[in-house]
Amino acid sequence: MFERAKETSAHHGKWMPAVVVDMLWSAGFKQVGFQDYVDYDFAILNAAERATYMTHPVSNELSQKYDHPDYRHIFQDKVEFDRVFSEHLHREWMVVDAGNASELRAFTERQGTIVTKEPVGQAGTGVHRYHAAEVDDWDAFHAGLFARGELLVEEVIVQHPDLAAVCPGTVNTTRVTAFFDGERAHILAMAQKFGRGAVSDQMTFGGFYTMLDENGHALGAGYDSHAHVHETHPDSGFRIADFRLPMMDEVRAFVDRVARVVPQVQYVGWDIVVTPTGPVLVEGNWGAGVYENKPSVTGIRTGNKPRYREAIGF
Ligand SMILES: Nc1ncnc2c1ncn2[C@@H]1O[C@H](COP(=O)(O)OP(=O)(O)O)[C@@H](O)[C@H]1O
Ligand SMILES: [Mg+2]
Repeated sequence: MFERAKETSAHHGKWMPAVVVDMLWSAGFKQVGFQDYVDYDFAILNAAERATYMTHPVSNELSQKYDHPDYRHIFQDKVEFDRVFSEHLHREWMVVDAGNASELRAFTERQGTIVTKEPVGQAGTGVHRYHAAEVDDWDAFHAGLFARGELLVEEVIVQHPDLAAVCPGTVNTTRVTAFFDGERAHILAMAQKFGRGAVSDQMTFGGFYTMLDENGHALGAGYDSHAHVHETHPDSGFRIADFRLPMMDEVRAFVDRVARVVPQVQYVGWDIVVTPTGPVLVEGNWGAGVYENKPSVTGIRTGNKPRYREAIGF
């Protein structure tokens, strides 16, 4: 907490002890996590502006309340997720087991490149990429995946040219946080993530994000949780504020469809990719987490909590 208070006081020119007191008070009485306080520049916001922000403690409460414990495992295990949501993946996938080296070889040679995943609990690090051309011992390759627990193997998603224009080397996902009320899905917030050429667009791979408005327009420059701000994509030079997610009508319809598959899990952070032929599903996160607007980057001083309140009714 002191490290974060130090960052904040340096960044915004605030007296450090006052920041410490404010952070503790906000955590204790306003359900604001220390990371929320830093990431969303609470040090420069007034009480009314702060009240418009979704925060991690509040999001966690929503997950506990609206994501039925008996169904969370479908989202927790990526193999099970692919099984249950298979018709929404729009790609081939297979599961590595002790005896299927030749099946793995055929799959990988047909695809050329594959993405492998450790099915459970890797917090953004359990995704890998391999090229068939670089494999010479297929039995060893298979044994390696099996031993390391990279059991889920997927075809590489082909993203829409508007996404490839920003970062072609990574499949750039859109995080759509949504609530299904039993009748329809409400989109609560959308964040566009961008990678840096690695297999994954997650922050652990150097990725960053920008929030999108209801029509898919970027609110401003990109940022991450490590105080990096990107006016332009560092590799392609694409101006992040100029990004617009294509096919928003299809995205809304798609989120409404996938939200009905497991209606017992109502509050979900969906990772989707818009492709040339429409959106496809990467995964759903029952612990949706929070993606919010960063005022010091966008100049916009409000967050998405009113949309959550309206849809969920709290
Ligand atoms: N089949 C795929 N093809 C291409 N890229 C993928 C594929 N699956 C995942 N990715 C990339 O890896 C990232 C992380 O994958 P994901 O399944 O969401 O795991 P986690 O978020 O738990 O690390 C995605 O956001 C995307 O950038
Ligand atoms: Mg993900």
